[in-house]
Amino acid sequence: MVTIQQCAQNIGKEVELNGWAYNFRSSGKIFFLQFRDGTVRIQVVYSEADITPEAWSALEGLHLESSVRVKGIVKEDTRSPSGFEIEGKGFEIIQLAFDDYPISKKEHGPDFLLENRHLWLRSEKQWAIQRVRNTVINATYEYLNNQGFIKIDAPILTPNACEDTTELFAIDYFDLGKAYLSQSGQLYIEAAIMSVGRCFDFGPVFRAEKSKTRRHLTEFWMMDAEAAFVEYEENLKIQEGLICYIVDSVLKQNQNELVLLERDQEPLKKIQAPFVRLTHKEAVAKLRALGSDILEDDDLGGDDETILTKQYDKPIFVEKYPAKVKAFYMKRDLNDPDRALCADLLAPEGYGEIIGGSQREDDYQTLVHRIEEQHLSMEAFKWYLDLRKYGSVPHSGFGYGLERVVGWICGTPHIRETIPFPRLINRIYP
Ligand code: 4AD
Ligand code: MG
Repeated sequence: MVTIQQCAQNIGKEVELNGWAYNFRSSGKIFFLQFRDGTVRIQVVYSEADITPEAWSALEGLHLESSVRVKGIVKEDTRSPSGFEIEGKGFEIIQLAFDDYPISKKEHGPDFLLENRHLWLRSEKQWAIQRVRNTVINATYEYLNNQGFIKIDAPILTPNACEDTTELFAIDYFDLGKAYLSQSGQLYIEAAIMSVGRCFDFGPVFRAEKSKTRRHLTEFWMMDAEAAFVEYEENLKIQEGLICYIVDSVLKQNQNELVLLERDQEPLKKIQAPFVRLTHKEAVAKLRALGSDILEDDDLGGDDETILTKQYDKPIFVEKYPAKVKAFYMKRDLNDPDRALCADLLAPEGYGEIIGGSQREDDYQTLVHRIEEQHLSMEAFKWYLDLRKYGSVPHSGFGYGLERVVGWICGTPHIRETIPFPRLINRIYP
């Protein structure tokens, strides 16, 4: 048995393929089977005269999405996305699908598709998005490993918040009271850099955010990277390098998928360092000139991000937000202590924030003060404060949301399509 992808090595030979019948039509004595096996899609053309009567009647009784076994000869065909076509010689049904496959060629609404996500995942565009997602994940590992970061797995069950305490999912944890699902592994990998120097985590995180927008999920995948002795500027360079590497990898490895997704590739080709840099102050001024009612000390809203990114064809670092709208662990700007040494990276074409990062506060007393200021639990952060007691060093890091990165690169309007089984405030099925 071979896969469709391996047809290139089997031109002119008879192959056996296992997969699914995703479409078909017949015209008299010719039967066109659209066949997929997870790798690529291919057309198998059968002539009644060429196959057994059993095989022909199996074809005639076929239902959409049946699992099938195909035998045939590989022919080159430049019009097909796989580059090949199969001249059918044998056909066998593995399981004849029920004849009411719910997803058809006609347009379905998003609710219907999400309700049938377990089946929708098989559709061509959904298949393509998952392949791009895989490239983004691999490219991230490659780039960071090459930059000396090793993977360190952060826990998912945690005793305290990492980000906003209003967005925590709490669970009862035996006799120890409440535990919380992690919002980001950052604090733990800050501990780990004091052992390994540079590291990253990559896993699911959870936010009980009541946001019903195209960029919010309640469960999503985050990659947090952290590095000892890396200060603010170098942190931005690492992010730039990573994003360029990811986009370049997708452009090189996923041409077929990007074409299927009808993604305009020109904007992706423009993703080159250096990225645009705007201070929060400059961003606010620009936004107000463009008609936003954002105030000096406001965080950027989703709409603000969209407006701003449409002004440039490169990603934008919005730097030095007012410290009060950002997390307690961010170091302040020495030149302007009301501002954090932080930057959000906004993806172009209206996509908005894909990365949040900063230099971290490394002084014990200052951090104690921040925890008090934000009324956080000193007890819960005792271990985190220890990192500033024993060999504290300047350090920085950042985290990206995988679905936001994939959504931008694929050009999908809503990030729910970029994760296999999206969790939204109003959806946990399937
Ligand atoms: O900006 P955030 O909240 O930053 C952190 O959690 C830091 N601890 C990261 C770090 O410095 N190591 O989240 C990081 C990224 C955002 O930029 C966004 O891409 C994504 O996570 N994100 C979400 N993605 C989908 N749904 C949500 N509800 C998200 N919230 C954040
Ligand atoms: Mg953020």
